[in-house]
Amino acid sequence: MSKVVRVGELASHVGERVTLQGWLYNKRSSGKLHFLEVRDGSGLCQCVMFKGDVPAETFAHGDRVQQESALRVTGIVREHAKLQGTFELGVSELEVLAAPTAEYPISPKDHGTDFLMDHRHLWLRSRRQWAILRIRHEIISAVRDYFDKHDFTLVDAPIFTPSACEGTSNLFETDYHGEPAYLTQSGQLYMEAAAAAFGKAYCFGPTFRAEKSKTRRHLAEFWMVEPEVAFMDLEGDMNLAEDFLCSVVQRVLSERRKELEVLERNTSFLEKVQKPFPRITYHRAIEILNAAGHEAKVGDDFGGDEETIISKEFDRPLMVHHYPIDLKAFYFKRDASDPSLALNMDVLAPEGYGEIIGGGQREDDLVRLEHAIETHGLPRAPFEWYLDVRRYGSFPHAGFGLGIERSVAWICGLPHVRETIPFPRMLNRLSP
Ligand code: 4AD
Ligand code: MG
Repeated sequence: MSKVVRVGELASHVGERVTLQGWLYNKRSSGKLHFLEVRDGSGLCQCVMFKGDVPAETFAHGDRVQQESALRVTGIVREHAKLQGTFELGVSELEVLAAPTAEYPISPKDHGTDFLMDHRHLWLRSRRQWAILRIRHEIISAVRDYFDKHDFTLVDAPIFTPSACEGTSNLFETDYHGEPAYLTQSGQLYMEAAAAAFGKAYCFGPTFRAEKSKTRRHLAEFWMVEPEVAFMDLEGDMNLAEDFLCSVVQRVLSERRKELEVLERNTSFLEKVQKPFPRITYHRAIEILNAAGHEAKVGDDFGGDEETIISKEFDRPLMVHHYPIDLKAFYFKRDASDPSLALNMDVLAPEGYGEIIGGGQREDDLVRLEHAIETHGLPRAPFEWYLDVRRYGSFPHAGFGLGIERSVAWICGLPHVRETIPFPRMLNRLSP
């Protein structure tokens, strides 16, 4: 065996004899040649086995090797004759470590989505899924880097919680040593407490919504990053969301070109993600809907259809702010000049992708917040700790939550969020 390298490192080993360890992705043969496409997680490499270069036994081996066999293949690295920047291996040795015990269920032919979802643990090996999850990883690390570099402190929020943050209709309830507890819908309330301790805080973790709706944007378990900043108002919140989103998209464009190409993503839309983003009020959004022939009146909430219509009017992410307070969660601060409106904002992704960020300025007045908890029909006791944040040195503050999966769907140009998370949890799916 020669030096073991990863496919992604081949460029720096041209002319050397190396060993790749991976699985057979695909195979073509033509008389004197076997083209073995080998994947090792870092990329795909065409390994060319020429009959004249290897013992007859090895060539016969190359003929029999099946899709998804685990293997080691050794040979000389060379640049592809026609594709600059693509490297292949001129094979001298092939070792099959394990052949599949049955035919691999995912063949190159088309399969239905349910079949693929049932085989998600295997589907992850395919090129598209590989590209999507590599981009997801880049987005997540760009998200962390952004907040870490901007002096935020990571404060992990709990997953078992005693209360609701985003309404009681989609809570997952569980038994917590004989008491009811809920899987967290959002870490926001904890980040508000953290903002008083660290000034700038963020959490990043899984969040849960027992969504009864089957849409292309809803998961039961999704990942959300939630920054919260002391002494920041709604305008500052919008500035932060804008700067943050530009930096994440830039990072994917600079680091994950190859993966975007695999997905045939038209990146011209992503190149346009530059400041400033248009900012419109909720009332203006209602006008846009009506002008587009979609009847809407003040007081209507926006669902996926409405967001798609509104966002299609713009070529970059759009911020919609000042929704009627009655449409929003209990914690929003009211606009001083029109108390019927919330100091909130949603960021809608372009190309019809809809809401990817929700956030705004929080109610910092103790009495008004107590009142809001009551009018939303929420039990008071589990919120006592949260009210303490107003009792002891209350301060203006704001923040937002970005949903990772909806952002991945948009950046990758995917119609549905189910492929944006390794193992999706949806209304009818808990497996694999
Ligand atoms: O708008 P939401 O519900 O806001 C909050 O949870 C706030 N507490 C966040 C905050 O201010 N700290 O959710 C925020 C984002 C949405 O814009 C969306 O991207 C994503 O979370 N999201 C979902 N993603 C997938 N499936 C679902 N069921 C989602 N619900 C929300
Ligand atoms: Mg929202």
